[in-house]
Amino acid sequence: MPCLITPPPASSICYPVILLHFPSLQSQQKIELTTKYQLNILLPFGHKSLKQESMSLNRRMFLKKLGTTIGAVSLGNVLMSSLASGRSIFDERESPPSPDLKDEDFWAWVQESYTVSPNIINLNNGGVSPQPLVVQETFEKYNRLCNEAPSYYMWNILNEGREALRADLADFAGCSAEEIAIDRNTTEAMNDIIYGLPLTAGDEVVLTKQDYPNVINTWKLREKREGIVLKWINLELPSENEDELTNAYVSQFTDKTKVVNITHIINWIGQIIPVKKIAREAHARGIDVLVDGAHTFALLDFKIPDLECDYFATSLHKWMCAPFGSGMLYVKKDKINKIWTLFPDAQPLGDKITKFETLGTRNFASEMAIGSALDFHLAIGSERKEKRLRELKDYWTSRVKDLPGIHIKTSFKPKFACVIGLVAVDGKKPGEVVRYLFDKYKIHTTGIEWENISGTRVTPNVYTTFRDLDKLVLALEKLPR
Ligand SMILES: Cc1ncc(COP(=O)(O)O)c(C=O)c1O
Repeated sequence: MPCLITPPPASSICYPVILLHFPSLQSQQKIELTTKYQLNILLPFGHKSLKQESMSLNRRMFLKKLGTTIGAVSLGNVLMSSLASGRSIFDERESPPSPDLKDEDFWAWVQESYTVSPNIINLNNGGVSPQPLVVQETFEKYNRLCNEAPSYYMWNILNEGREALRADLADFAGCSAEEIAIDRNTTEAMNDIIYGLPLTAGDEVVLTKQDYPNVINTWKLREKREGIVLKWINLELPSENEDELTNAYVSQFTDKTKVVNITHIINWIGQIIPVKKIAREAHARGIDVLVDGAHTFALLDFKIPDLECDYFATSLHKWMCAPFGSGMLYVKKDKINKIWTLFPDAQPLGDKITKFETLGTRNFASEMAIGSALDFHLAIGSERKEKRLRELKDYWTSRVKDLPGIHIKTSFKPKFACVIGLVAVDGKKPGEVVRYLFDKYKIHTTGIEWENISGTRVTPNVYTTFRDLDKLVLALEKLPR
């Protein structure tokens, strides 16, 4: 019997899952698999096929195939039975979703695709999101594969899968694959750029006191070490005035300004910043635009080039619901060769985006599961997801906004906020409200006290139910004050 593990030409690799071996196979099945393989049939299990199929999921298929099937049955069995029969694992689906399908039925599928605790209502998805079961399973599957022969599977096989993933992320982000580096999180991606920009003493950088601490601290390090000058803006939030927000940045620009650092959504309060307007003003003055998109990628329905920025950093474990410790960096093609790499390859000023991936041994399983997270996101659809998340925020905020002593600090206007909502309670510190919500109602939120912002941050996600939010409303109604 010929060995199954003969890699196809690199160009035909979709995802490397085809190289799995299954000791339990009967020889007949092996022949089938080899035949399909040689015919270069697209993977039934890989992220491409899932993506193609996932746009038309019905409820049973969504649960059974994405969740239960992959979760309960061994990968070998699923892959074998589908490959041996020449069918995709998704071919058994019943029927496409009915046009009459109620929105809440759809969201019930989504909710059931997660494995969140039934004992806690997690309303701190602003920190990090859980992964749908399909993503967890993909991660575990590749992790097991890596453990069969780490250096072979990781470097010879999974390393190739990164290029397909890069291409899909780029497609989703609306840019070229030559502009996307896969990394571990926003912090890493922002550090890549902040450290890498060729700045010298006296060069000015415009940023706000409401930016993220990891980002601020890196800028401060460069200030201390090299004498660059930080020009601080103290934003008054929430704001519903784009011109005012834009002007807060532009008024700090001088002929020494080299970079403006913009947080696309301010995490403390959920404020959306008009990046494009600021970027246009910056570029008109020859200033580079660095965007911290930790909270916008796979949350707001946009393409990175829409922002007209030069650099964009994000975490995929937030709104993409990818494995913990997965992120992405976008660098506009013509800017790549100006950035010194933090972890250099042989050409630290080269123009290949992969120079930002010189990390050494990395978590390949996690990277592969990013593909599943992207598929899952696409199955929901960016527009629908953003709309739903706004609805969730509007649902609870509109119910509590008129309660005595309660103040919603985040804008109600879609242009200025999405899913993150901050609530302040008269006479209570944010930490007290957080403790009360958890101790009495098992509702997990986070307290914010940062610069001029104070309150309890509430961040639902796609798996959050209106019943969960009813509990939050009840808890806030009953909050002693
Ligand atoms: C605005 C912003 N930037 C950066 C980060 C850092 O993200 P990570 O911990 O994934 O690097 C966060 C985390 O919450 C954030 O809110």
